Amino acid sequence: MLVVDFGAQYAQLIARRVREAKVYSEIVPHTATVDQLLAKDPAAIILSGGPSSVYADGAPAVDPKLFDAGVPVMGICYGFQAMAQALGGDVARTGLSEFGGTDVDVCATGILLDGTPAHQVTWMSHGDAVRAAPPGFEVLATSAGAPVAAFEDRERRLYGVQWHPEVKHSEHGQAVLEHFLYDGAGLAPDWTADNVVAEQVEAIRAQIGDARVICALSGGVDSAVAAALVQKAVGDQLTCVHVDHGLMRAGEVEQIERDFVAATGVNLVIRHEKERFLGALAGVTDPEQKRKIIGREFIRVFEDAQRDIVAEAGAHGEEVKFLVQGTLYPDVVESGGGEGAANIKSHHNVGGLPDDLTFSLVEPLRTLFKDEVRAVGRELGVPEEIVSRQPFPGPGLGIRIVGEVTEHNLEILRRADAIAREELTRAGLDGEIWQCPVVLLADVRSVGVQGDGRTYGHPIVLRPVSSEDAMTADWTRLPYDVLSVISTRITNEVREINRVTLDVTSKPPGTIEWE
Ligand code: XMP
Repeated sequence: MLVVDFGAQYAQLIARRVREAKVYSEIVPHTATVDQLLAKDPAAIILSGGPSSVYADGAPAVDPKLFDAGVPVMGICYGFQAMAQALGGDVARTGLSEFGGTDVDVCATGILLDGTPAHQVTWMSHGDAVRAAPPGFEVLATSAGAPVAAFEDRERRLYGVQWHPEVKHSEHGQAVLEHFLYDGAGLAPDWTADNVVAEQVEAIRAQIGDARVICALSGGVDSAVAAALVQKAVGDQLTCVHVDHGLMRAGEVEQIERDFVAATGVNLVIRHEKERFLGALAGVTDPEQKRKIIGREFIRVFEDAQRDIVAEAGAHGEEVKFLVQGTLYPDVVESGGGEGAANIKSHHNVGGLPDDLTFSLVEPLRTLFKDEVRAVGRELGVPEEIVSRQPFPGPGLGIRIVGEVTEHNLEILRRADAIAREELTRAGLDGEIWQCPVVLLADVRSVGVQGDGRTYGHPIVLRPVSSEDAMTADWTRLPYDVLSVISTRITNEVREINRVTLDVTSKPPGTIEWE
């Protein structure tokens, strides 16, 4: 099913909700022609919301040809108005804009609103409204500012709502989407993790054939699940390389070495390079410099590992032709949905490998959102500790120490971080938190009293955040009793720390990581 993106932030959310209904969805730009849309052979189409007025100069219109193709279509907000306008309805400014929670009165449930109550709160964001539905449509709902707030033409399988069913604040929003998908468009909820695995395994085999393939395994969810998929598809043709830069959290390298290998059976090469990284970072406190050094050293180590693997493979007359990357769907969408060109993203990615590597990319997660990657990982038997792991930056604890990255500072941070993680897990809060960086302010000291004596120790910062995609975030309101346990344990058990502080800044203005 295709989501036509009219340029607001909602298209991704719609695609996610459709997939939550177990229907595969892809986002396409509104500039795609009807022929291009139909060439993808969609089973259904949703026209998303957008920031324009359908009357504004240059506002994207919908080609009425789309509605003659026999494909079920649902318009949402701007998409709803554009649909009404294209089919001969009347769209105008009513003088009453509606933003946020808005009451809607249902006059006929039809297919779309079946089983939903006569009065419901929906989430709206519009100035224009549909005043009269196009010929052949039945009006299903109205609101104070939208004389026609929902309509459908069951015969032509065309549907629309003024509100945003994809937003959780719309009561029954998911039900409305599912009515369109299942009852309106006749789709089955069969986009499931086992189907994704089966499909991807086949695609990977077709792409790789007999060639050798390598994967930089960071220990994060994405690279682990990508590697597990490729391993399932081509087994021993895959070699994973984990660069142990000494900046991982407590127990992480062991977890990859032991649990991941046991669960998936991958060939794993671990390059222990702690001295190299700490040597290069000695005396450095500037965040950007740290990131550059870590990135540069990572590439060198990876190139060494690659050379060794190529040398070994060469002896067997096989070449390493492919590199596995854990690129996710939001990355693809944000970089313009670009197909084809193998452009390894380097931002925020310590695995940002140089572009002169002569590999073709294997990106088995390119069509998936994070939660789907986790579901696929579980299906493949990747250990839960890895699958449910919160995002962790490539440069690791190196960018969570404000000050110099030394073995001593890393050890302090590792112990504090392990306590915070343990208590958050014990309190059952992992699901609510996107991630919780723990940051050591190695450059700061404050006076305290521990036991009978004066201390002059370092503060630690807890940075729990809630987010959908890490682009924006809010600080998570953790229960005081959990914060209290974390604070007490850290100051008792990590002698060098005498103060625990909580970061209550959203993003923006603060980024999630401190450096
Ligand atoms: P910021 O700090 O920019 O982080 O708000 C957004 C998300 O990205 C993660 N992050 C990184 N991930 N390499 C990574 O693989 C990096 O260099 C990097 N820097 C930040 C961060 O943990 C958060 O999830």
